[in-house]
Amino acid sequence: MKFKTIPAHIGVIMDGNGRWAERQGKKRTEGHREGAKAIDRLLDVALEHKIKAVSLYAFSTENWKRPITEVNAIFNLLIEFIDSRLEDIQKKGIRIQHSGNLNKLSTKVKQKINTAVEATKKNKKLTANFCLNYGGQEEILSSFQRLQKDRIHKKISLDKPVSPKEFEKYLYTYPLPPVDLLIRTAGEQRVSNFLLWQIAYAEFFFTNTLWPDFDRDSLEEALHFFESRKRKFGGLS
Ligand code: FPP
Repeated sequence: MKFKTIPAHIGVIMDGNGRWAERQGKKRTEGHREGAKAIDRLLDVALEHKIKAVSLYAFSTENWKRPITEVNAIFNLLIEFIDSRLEDIQKKGIRIQHSGNLNKLSTKVKQKINTAVEATKKNKKLTANFCLNYGGQEEILSSFQRLQKDRIHKKISLDKPVSPKEFEKYLYTYPLPPVDLLIRTAGEQRVSNFLLWQIAYAEFFFTNTLWPDFDRDSLEEALHFFESRKRKFGGLS
């Protein structure tokens, strides 16, 4: 399938892993495992359509409220994902990026992420931005704090107005462009603290499909929806 316009950056709230597992009579962690396979599919179809960046909401700052066994299962899947796919990701020209606060993550997870980021930093085809221990509000506060620290260090007055361009350099997602299309699976219609700054002018696509079932057709349906939107960015045409 060919599209006239393609989003440069897609944000994905991968919801419904738990429900998928419950419906199959399986453990929730099995749902997350299937969810990891859906990430593989998404990256392949994104490459085909020449999408430049995909941000994946894999673990939010609020997900720590889940049972520790589930939290550990998600991080173990991430480690497994990097270990088993890094070579393939390299071959395909995918750059791995991380967004979120690394401080709370285990040394092993931090090392894995840093290794993947470093190994793929020159790849240009597609950026797969894994949002882990990510919260949009935390990102904005932390970005502002780092901006202020830099200003103090460089002896720039704190009274000087901050432009969006200057501020965006401090976001975890930098240098990714704003999100053009936000996809949320599993029927919920909320943003859940995801990429709050970056979705300012995003088109929202909600689907009842559960994340583990999200496939080529699902992404192409979302791309078809995006193509049909008339984006005005606050202007008249
Ligand atoms: C939301 O579904 C999903 C998550 C909080 C975790 C997302 C994780 C993955 C897709 C797999 C992890 C793999 C890698 C490579 C990072 P939910 O559990 O809230 O589903 P529910 O609402 O149906 O319970």
